[in-house]
Amino acid sequence: KSNGRGPNGQPARPSMAQRAASYVVPCMEKLGICMVEDFLGEETGSAILAEVKRLHGSGKFCDGQLVGQPRAKGGSETSPASAASSSSSSSSSSSSSSVIAGATLSPPSAIRGDKIAWISGSEPGCEKIAYLMSQMDELIRHCAGRLGIYNINGRTKAMVACYPGKGAGYVRHVDNPNGDGRCVTCIYYLNKNWDSKVHGGVLRIFPEGKPQFADIEPIFDRLLLFWSDRRNPHEVQASYSTRYAITVWYFDKEERAQAIKRHSLAAGEKDMKVSLSQAEAGNQHTTR
Ligand code: OGA
Ligand code: OGA
Ligand code: MN
Repeated sequence: KSNGRGPNGQPARPSMAQRAASYVVPCMEKLGICMVEDFLGEETGSAILAEVKRLHGSGKFCDGQLVGQPRAKGGSETSPASAASSSSSSSSSSSSSSVIAGATLSPPSAIRGDKIAWISGSEPGCEKIAYLMSQMDELIRHCAGRLGIYNINGRTKAMVACYPGKGAGYVRHVDNPNGDGRCVTCIYYLNKNWDSKVHGGVLRIFPEGKPQFADIEPIFDRLLLFWSDRRNPHEVQASYSTRYAITVWYFDKEERAQAIKRHSLAAGEKDMKVSLSQAEAGNQHTTR
């Protein structure tokens, strides 16, 4: 944990407390976007990648939830709730308008071409992914009380996403446009030797009210954090090689409680929250 040398003589990474205080907190305050390089190191990152590849090979990935897809009426299992309305900032999110919006959009594969799996961390063969979540939680815990006005008290499960190459991407969107409780998006990238000029797959963020955009390459062992709300619309550009990432969303206690109180969320989604570093059973959800 302290500075100095690691077990193999490599420079030790700074502690989560140091990273939180000296970098993550000020960077989020100033820019609302923050990148942590060498988050866990080569060995741990490789072990996580191996788990993700095994998971992918075992056929546990489903198509990502599609923006513009109609809501399941009365169903609790896959209702995309607020995510379904993120393709439009003006229209309401009633079922009928979602259907209309869906009909006017490009084919689903052009909206979002990734495959995903939701992981709590307690599944067999997901121990390293669980460790990653615990380290994300530790970083966030060390930022406590210093990330905007938020009081973070939980998070989603981990969404493991794979863009299979072949030009798959994800159109510009806002993760949480309508106050569903998610305040920080936290993404861990797993791609070794990624060359964006060849492989594409850049995450482009368009910070609200700024003329510039931020291009983030999805490179191995990089952790990215950004505000999940309308301050950070973003897109994943076409990817021409297999692209892996693991995303967790952190909840603001008050916003989440309000969202649940409004009954704006599908019944099944109320169970998606887990306490920091706790891998509990809960329903899968497809909102992102
Ligand atoms: C929104 C929204 C999209 C964009 O603010 O609700 O969806 O690209 N914005 O800015
Ligand atoms: C998402 C998303 C970005 C990325 O899953 O909502 O925007 O870089 N992912 O994978
Ligand atoms: Mn997103």
